[in-house]
Formats: sequence, C-alpha cells, structure tokens
Amino acid sequence: MTAHSDNTTTRSKGKVYLIGAGPGDPTLITVKGLELLKRAEVLVYDYLATPKLLKYVPKEAELIYAGKKGGVCHAHTQEEINQILVDHATAGKIVVRLKGGDPFIFGRGGEEIEELAKHGIAFEVVPGVTSATAAATYAGVPITHRDYTASVAFITGHEDPTKEVSNIAWDKISTGIGTLVFYMGIKNLPCITENLIKHGRSPETPVVVVRWASTPIQQSVVGTLATIAEVVKKEKIKPPALIVVGEVVKLRDTINWFEKRPLFGKRILVTRTVCWRIRARTAWRGPPSPWRRRIAGMISMRS
Ligand SMILES: C[S@@+](CC[C@H](N)C(=O)[O-])C[C@H]1O[C@@H](n2cnc3c(N)ncnc32)[C@H](O)[C@@H]1O
Repeated sequence: MTAHSDNTTTRSKGKVYLIGAGPGDPTLITVKGLELLKRAEVLVYDYLATPKLLKYVPKEAELIYAGKKGGVCHAHTQEEINQILVDHATAGKIVVRLKGGDPFIFGRGGEEIEELAKHGIAFEVVPGVTSATAAATYAGVPITHRDYTASVAFITGHEDPTKEVSNIAWDKISTGIGTLVFYMGIKNLPCITENLIKHGRSPETPVVVVRWASTPIQQSVVGTLATIAEVVKKEKIKPPALIVVGEVVKLRDTINWFEKRPLFGKRILVTRTVCWRIRARTAWRGPPSPWRRRIAGMISMRS
C-alpha cells in the first residue's frame, strides 16, 4: 500500500515520506522505510518510534521530536506538527515523518497527509508493522487460526467511557468477531471488559495484555475477561500496551517463542562506547526521559 502524490500539480520541491517505524524492535522497520530514513534531511519522529532508528539518519539532518505520550504530554500540538511538515517540505526538504507501528492505524497519519495534500505537497506512505500484530506475535498468539477464529478487529480503547453514545458497536463486536485487539486501552480496561461481558462475550474468554511489545523490556500478563483488569492493576502494567481478547490466546502456552528465549528478561552488561552521536542529538532536543533511559540502556541491555 503506497499512497502516492508525486504529480505535476505539486508546488513544492520537497517531499514528505510518512513511514511506519514498526512496533519497537528497530529491525522490524521495512526495507523501504529504512532506505528512506537514510535520505532524510528533516526527521519528525514520535514517542513510539524507536530511537534506535535515529542512527540511520544522516548526521546533517534536522531532528524534530514530535511525541505525544498517552495523548497528554505533547511536544507539539497536531496543528504544529502539520505546520512543521508543510514548512520543511515547502522549503524543498526531504522530510521523513516517522511514526510508531503503522502510520494509518490510530496514528493520525491520515490527517497529516490530508494537510499535505491541501498544500499541494508531494508525499508517499510506507506502511509499518502495527503493534497489534507484533504484540500478539511476540506474546505467542496467532491473531487468527483456522480452529479458533476467522476474524479480527483493531479497536481503540481510548474512547471516553462516559460518552453517551459510543462509536464502538459493543453489541456487534462482542460476539461477532473472534479476536479483538484494543489499542490505548489500559486506563479503560475495566470498562472494556465490562462492556464485552455485558454484550454477551463469555467472562472466561482468555486475554493477554502486552506492554512494550517486541522490545527487550516486553512484559505480558494473562487472564480472562473476568479477571484481567485486576491482574493488570496488581502487576502495575502501564501504557503502552495492547489488549488481545479471544480463544487464540490459549495457543500462547505452545507458541510463546519470544519470552521463552533463554536470555529474555536478563540484563547483560556490554562494555563498549556509547553511541555519542545519538546520545548528544537526543539529549538536547530529543524524546522524554523513558526513551533517554532506553538509549542509555544501549550499554546495559536486556536481551
Ligand atoms: C496512538 S496508538 C499508535 C499505534 C501505532 N500507529 C501502531 O500501528 O501500532 C498508541 C498505542 O499503540 C499501542 N502500542 C504501540 N506500540 C506498542 C508496543 N511496542 N507495545 C504495546 N503497545 C504498543 C499502545 O496501545 C499505545 O497506547
């Protein structure tokens, strides 16, 4: 899927590449995404786009952190981000807009592209591995399986639970779809499970919650629709995390390949020089502290 607007009506000389960085493991970016990253003159990147990819950006490139954490801690408003993209592309730059996961899945990528189109700016979109499929895969759950389900849905868990009319058709998704994956749902988990049970899904349905999927600090907990909210509270699971609901979660006992690797969750001390270029660049205009800690963790890595 590559949206393309490299046409003759384009007024600017620059171009914006909207690229999915993948879920967290830097090697999960696409080959095309990585090639374009290496050509960036300006990089505008998000909280969930792994900083381990920054080393591929040319050292002359301008790095602009545009992260939004939990929808509240904003380095820039969405309007400002749109304007940054428009301004740099209008100035003739090759702009890479790097977003976590897939830019068109709960990533406001569509809105950014609409703004570029409005200004006649050329763009391309490179899809990424979305965190839902990565979280399921790295937690040992095949998101579909012939014996268990033929359907899967990606749903926002961010909807205000006090909203009078929900945009989510709980009556339809609760029993009409096999596997349900909720993004941004940790805070609303009790409401999500309550709604699903209220609309007919069995309280015994297995659930896995996966935090920082595909990274060395991945954490996952399991339960049922009836118990998972309590488990998450007890284990103090915080965002970013995905909630995977469905019978396929049962297969985790057999398939949990990532967390069963011998070194998973172990700390390994690597005695080598820190990548000072990345450290210096992210230190003064880079991401907030969790990412800085993770970059510092390049010397003290978990595997
Ligand atoms: C604004 S959405 C962006 C989704 C992104 N565009 C994608 O395709 O994965 C942010 C949410 O994605 C999920 N997420 C992103 N990366 C994750 C990861 N590595 N592990 C678990 N959840 C993740 C979390 O639910 C987080 O709250």
